[in-house]
Amino acid sequence: AVVEHTFNVGNLSISQLCQPEMIITAVNGQLPGPTIVASEGDTVVVHMVNESPYNATIHWHGIFQRGTPWADGPAMVTQCPVLPGGNYTYRFNVTGQEGTLWWHSHFSFLRATVYGALIIKPRGGAKAYPFPKPDEEKVVVLGEWWNASVYDLQQNALHTGQPAPPANAYTINGKPGDFYNCSALNQTHKFELKQNKTYMLRIINAALNTPLFFKVANHSFTVVAADACYTKPYKTDVVVISPGQTVDAFLVPDAGVAAVGGRYYMAVIPYNSAVNALNPEFLYSLTTGSAVVEYAGSVTTLPPVRPQLPQYNDTATVHRFLSNLTALVPNRVPLAVDTHMFVTVSMGDTVCGPDQTMCMPNPPINGTIFASSMNNASLILPKNTSMLEALYHNNADGVYTRDFPDTPPLVFDYTADASDTATLKFTTKSTKVKTLPYNSTVQMVLQNTRLVSKESHPMHLHGFNFFVLAQDFGNYNETTDPAKFNLVDPQERNTVAVPTGGWAVIRFVADNPGMWFMHCHFDAHLDFGLGMVFEVQDGPTAETSLPPPPSDLPQC
Ligand code: C2O
Repeated sequence: AVVEHTFNVGNLSISQLCQPEMIITAVNGQLPGPTIVASEGDTVVVHMVNESPYNATIHWHGIFQRGTPWADGPAMVTQCPVLPGGNYTYRFNVTGQEGTLWWHSHFSFLRATVYGALIIKPRGGAKAYPFPKPDEEKVVVLGEWWNASVYDLQQNALHTGQPAPPANAYTINGKPGDFYNCSALNQTHKFELKQNKTYMLRIINAALNTPLFFKVANHSFTVVAADACYTKPYKTDVVVISPGQTVDAFLVPDAGVAAVGGRYYMAVIPYNSAVNALNPEFLYSLTTGSAVVEYAGSVTTLPPVRPQLPQYNDTATVHRFLSNLTALVPNRVPLAVDTHMFVTVSMGDTVCGPDQTMCMPNPPINGTIFASSMNNASLILPKNTSMLEALYHNNADGVYTRDFPDTPPLVFDYTADASDTATLKFTTKSTKVKTLPYNSTVQMVLQNTRLVSKESHPMHLHGFNFFVLAQDFGNYNETTDPAKFNLVDPQERNTVAVPTGGWAVIRFVADNPGMWFMHCHFDAHLDFGLGMVFEVQDGPTAETSLPPPPSDLPQC
């Protein structure tokens, strides 16, 4: 079947947190935007019309885009942005994947308000789930809200080199909830549940920069999927979710939950993983976003029960949750690796050198500017043509180079607090791709470092899922750590939260020709260059080769 939508990216006038009405950019006047529901094997067609004053694109986060690399959406990687007044039709199949994914704008700051859910059901409908069919499903989209133009905040960050201020609120389905002063009742999302029914939550972290702890008072969860990949049922009283990730979980009432008329808070708080940053407690605002879970029945005036949330820096709880997830059924993990990469993911500084055009918009202060990098390469996107068009037209000159390094320029003690790493903070601005032969198996060790600060970066790969073979703290040891690999039933994801001051090892098969972005899903870090791009070469047949661009592909 064909699932067809029109997305008008335009203005929405909205008032939150007792502020005057503000104009934000949103799809079809909704925050979050419309939910797309498809069945496995369907074709999704979205006519995107840009009625906003900004350049925009839509990315279908987690969709494989097999044979449709032109529909992936990241600006300047697979397409030029859609200019104000322009339009573009995204067309892709949802084949070979089921579960909760989402969509968001992929032209810088816009995704703060241009986002929504994308749900893929099994072909047979809900009765084909590999777990008991829930009576109902609820979409829970987590976000961040600023009482200011996110565009201005981002421009300011790029010009000053200082990260944008923390969000004014965390939101659930677009609403901050009444833990914030003067948040009116209509700014709290309400989930209405019925006695003796089962509910599955489809939880999406669409926040720009904040990993979140998620709880519901007097309830626990059974996790059944993450990033649209089924997991072995995993029981937990808290869900941990980083920007870019999704979790499907049954909501399980504790004994004694008042199933008639009971009211409970659903709440999120940030997980602040930064260790040794200058002011770690100010990276995120330590406030609580909430919604209300209310069981039908006698009307009560009692306030909802509050959950006990973890501490904002509870890394042990994060690690327990993330390292306990396994795939529902044994995976076919490729055992032979063709390309080994060891890649540092860090914050740092950049020396701009004589060529100021390689810097952020403004000249840097004191000759350096805040940057972030992978293997000391700090990504800047091309300006005049997309990388995929350059690849298709076989004309990479001036657009990108094929020398993304497989290893960092220097081996050092990545995570020790005491090591002298001052010189390593300086990165190079560049547009480098890693070229992969068709069908090759890639293993990446993603190593966090202590440059500037240790921090858990949610690393997202476009176009593919990967197996998360292992993750741990400290420096990866290539002699002893492979013994920790789960090669039987590792979780499959599209976004891995690399442990703070630690590492994660991922493996995937590069079987889809195109240009595939890999980047930190903190918008702030992406702006500062924490990303790289894979160029996957053509296979032997026409079906396994890059197709020509659609005729309405936007031009720069
Ligand atoms: Cu959801 Cu490139 O990102």
